[in-house]
Amino acid sequence: MTAPNTNVTNQLTGSRTDWHTHDRFGLFIHWGLYAIPARGEWLRKQEKISDAQYQVYFDEFNPTRYDPRTWASLAKRAGQKYAVLTARHHEGFCLFDSKLTDFKATNTPAGRDLVREYLDAFREEGLKVGLYNSLLDWHHPDYPIDRLHPLRDSGVTRDDTYDFSRYVDYLHGLVRELLTNYGKIDILWLDFSYDDMTGEAWRAQELVNMIRSLQPDIIINNRLTTGHTNLKTGLQMGDFSTPEQIIPSSGMVDAQGNPLPWEACITINESWGYSSGDHNCKNPTDIIHMLVECVSKNGNLLLNVGPDPKGEIPDEHVDILEQVGRWMRKNSESIYGCGSSDLPKPEWGRYTQNGNILYAHILDKPMGPISLNGLGGRVRKARLLSNGTELAISKPWNAADCVDNAFFYLPGNRMPDPIDTVVMLELIGDSA
Ligand code: GLC
Repeated sequence: MTAPNTNVTNQLTGSRTDWHTHDRFGLFIHWGLYAIPARGEWLRKQEKISDAQYQVYFDEFNPTRYDPRTWASLAKRAGQKYAVLTARHHEGFCLFDSKLTDFKATNTPAGRDLVREYLDAFREEGLKVGLYNSLLDWHHPDYPIDRLHPLRDSGVTRDDTYDFSRYVDYLHGLVRELLTNYGKIDILWLDFSYDDMTGEAWRAQELVNMIRSLQPDIIINNRLTTGHTNLKTGLQMGDFSTPEQIIPSSGMVDAQGNPLPWEACITINESWGYSSGDHNCKNPTDIIHMLVECVSKNGNLLLNVGPDPKGEIPDEHVDILEQVGRWMRKNSESIYGCGSSDLPKPEWGRYTQNGNILYAHILDKPMGPISLNGLGGRVRKARLLSNGTELAISKPWNAADCVDNAFFYLPGNRMPDPIDTVVMLELIGDSA
């Protein structure tokens, strides 16, 4: 195991990521042959499945109910602004019509380029589009049989004809195809580095140079040099960090303390790929709170679903996204274009902020007036975001001595939205 290669150029530029830090909420979609066995996308590794055993899924892959327009309209209704689809996961199967391999959707009973249909559908809804491409490949003969490989205990070994550089050429070739044949791609998600398979092992700088030359505006995640654990490593290369199944306790910053773009990727249940036995879903309240938490710390939420082998997003996940969408329809102004506030986290919830508009996300039912600590004399007006009604800034008799704070009461002392009641506060001056 060698240390991650940090000898690579940090490609961060402010403007490239502007849309991403504005949009805040995206849909991650893990879909591949692994949907059929329905035990998650790592099952080949976990169950040490041979190529021959896995071939069964390739031979029967036929998602007859795949209609990405339904995925796209769901994402739109949920308030998501972009999506990232696994064009190819660690299993090596391409959902697209690559010229570099036969292990692709067009050679299965599906017989279609599923990536193209996804891109068309999401663009039609006005959503930004992203593709995930694995750095690993458990199907390719030039990928090493290492500690993560399904064949690690099989007795199969690589012979003299094995050549990892041929694999890296192949990897670069796939990226070239995805960025050449499918129009403008907004995000490229490369996943992931581990052990000595990191940075220049992937010929990372050359790959990034090619990506930038083909699609100058694309944003790239940070995993050419990092793995799933990247809270500390942050951004050595790429445009945004990718904390996985975790929301960093205080956002993400570089060595100088400047905020870095980041996107927490989190599953709706506990699996990325379709897993028929996993019903341990986060509820809509959890998801809204996670989204607000990310934004309050200058981050995004990329929320994952795993469609089933027929091509449908599980009903449970659809229902959850619909409910998130109901909240977003009234409150998305407190998410899009927003980021952290300089004010400390309030005891009753969280703040998000956009210029001189501060959004108070009230998550805990208040006892008495809501206190806006430090904002005495600084709030021009307060409105319930969901319907625009006024909330009078008052000086409650029982807090009259707290002149540094501003106060308001929620109507009837109840939370109009028990999930998250958002109050829009127009501040006097530029920012809090
Ligand atoms: C990890 C896992 C993977 C999933 C990804 C999402 O890299 O290998 O299965 O695609 O995280 O962040």
